[in-house]
Parts: sequence; structure tokens; C-alpha cells
Amino acid sequence: MGDGLTERSEFGARLIREAAALAQRFYESQASLTVRSKGTQDVVSEADLEVEKLIRDSIAERFPEDAFFGEESGRHEVEGSDGLWIVDPVDGTQPFLSDLSSWCVSIAYARERVLEMGFVAAPARDEVFMGRRGHGATLNGRPIHVSRSTRLDDGLLSIGMSPRIDADQILPMFDALLRQGVVYYREGSGALSLAYVAAGRLIGYLEPHLNSWDGAAGVAIVEAAGGQVNDFLAGDALWVGGPCVAAPPALYPSLAEVLGI
Ligand code: IPD
Ligand code: CA
Ligand code: CA
Repeated sequence: MGDGLTERSEFGARLIREAAALAQRFYESQASLTVRSKGTQDVVSEADLEVEKLIRDSIAERFPEDAFFGEESGRHEVEGSDGLWIVDPVDGTQPFLSDLSSWCVSIAYARERVLEMGFVAAPARDEVFMGRRGHGATLNGRPIHVSRSTRLDDGLLSIGMSPRIDADQILPMFDALLRQGVVYYREGSGALSLAYVAAGRLIGYLEPHLNSWDGAAGVAIVEAAGGQVNDFLAGDALWVGGPCVAAPPALYPSLAEVLGI
């Protein structure tokens, strides 16, 4: 018997497209969406709930032995399971609700906390990114690789932030980076930004606190595309989030230093 990873990779590739198509339908009819606030700068709409439901139901039907962790429905354990799907049904909720195209659906699969594969689809941009550990990464089926840049002042760097972290903690990071000649770029979706690092469009991504559902798929894709990322699911970070630094190996140490990891 095989390890079941190829089956999950083929399944994930179909599922991300199905989920992205449903999310895109909500995006196109967003004037009629019901939106509810979960806190400061944190909203949820029917799109988030319905897309997560579709993903969770499909996984439960095809791989009932796998556990699930989604932003909207939380943790669904399966006794004895070593496999876990980590899902953000719409990453970039604010761009999504602001009629901007920088949002995506994000699905990752980890086994014993090792990220095996990630799928990120940005339907409003007609792009699907995938990566599997040891098998490379693709954008719409074509191989991608992280940037060959060796300098922080050569290319665009994305920095994520959220109300979960104080401005006092973020500003020194900006200060240090801008003094090194960094050109700052922001998409409003951590998952999409990570996929862009994988594709070499951005020279790196860092955020002081990112939840695992925001970053897991993008991290798997960056690693498969030859990039370096901190141990993103280590310890409690899987359940409560933690820092995220992703970059080509040549730039990783300077960025990790800025974030103090
Ligand atoms: C957010 C986005 C944002 C990142 C935040 C996340 P959401 O997720 O990924 O880019 O900076 O940390 O919370 O709310 O759009 O799903
Ligand atoms: Ca998110
Ligand atoms: Ca979300």
C-alpha cells in the first residue's frame, strides 16, 4: 500500500478548483452577501462559511480518516489520525468584500505536522498555485521557483499585519527594513503573498503573527518552490498561530533576524 499522498494531491488539485469556483460566484454577487463582524477588522460572510463547508464535507467523504482545521469551523479531530487538512476558505476577506481581486482559497495537508502539500487559488486572477514536498511547485500547471534575488533592495517584499499585533511591535520592523532599502508591497492576503514568493514575484513575506489556516498552504508551496520558511506549525503555532518568514534561502536569514526568530 502507498502512503496516500498522491491520492490526496490529486484530490486537492480538484477540490481547490471546485472551492474557488464557488467562492468566485459569491464574489460576483457580493452586493447581496450577509456580512457579520467577528471583531476589529475581522468579518465573515456566507462565502467564507459555505466555501469551508464544501471543502470540509468533500474531505470527510473522501478521506474520513483525516482531521480538519478550518478558520470558520475550527478543529475536527479524528481519533488516531496523523493527517490534517488546514483550510482558510477565503483569505483576504477585506479585499474580497472591497471588490479587489487579491483574495484566494487556501488548502493545506500536513502529516505529523509536516506540511506535505498546499493549494492556493485566486479565481478573480485566474491563478492556481500548488506545491508538494519533494515534487516542486506550479502556477496553472507550469513550474515555479522562488526569486534568485540575493539582496533585500532588489525586488518587492511583502509584510503582513493584523490587529492581533500592536503597532509598537510592527513599526520597528518596518524601520529596520526600510533602512535596508526594502520596497514594501501588500496584497491583503497572506496565502496569496506566500504563493507570490513561491512564484518569484516577491522576494519574501513576513508577518509577526499569522494563523496556521492563513499560511499553511502558502508555506508548503514556497518550500516546494525552493524557498525557506520558519518552522511554521511548531508547538502551539498550529493551533494559535505564530510568526511567518518566507524567502529564497539567500534572503531568509536577514528577514528572520528582523522578526527576531
Ligand atoms: C488575513 C489576511 C491578511 C493577514 C492577516 C490575516 P483573512 O486573513 O491573510 O493578509 O495579514 O494576518 O488574518 O482575515 O483575510 O482571512
Ligand atoms: Ca486568513
Ligand atoms: Ca479567512
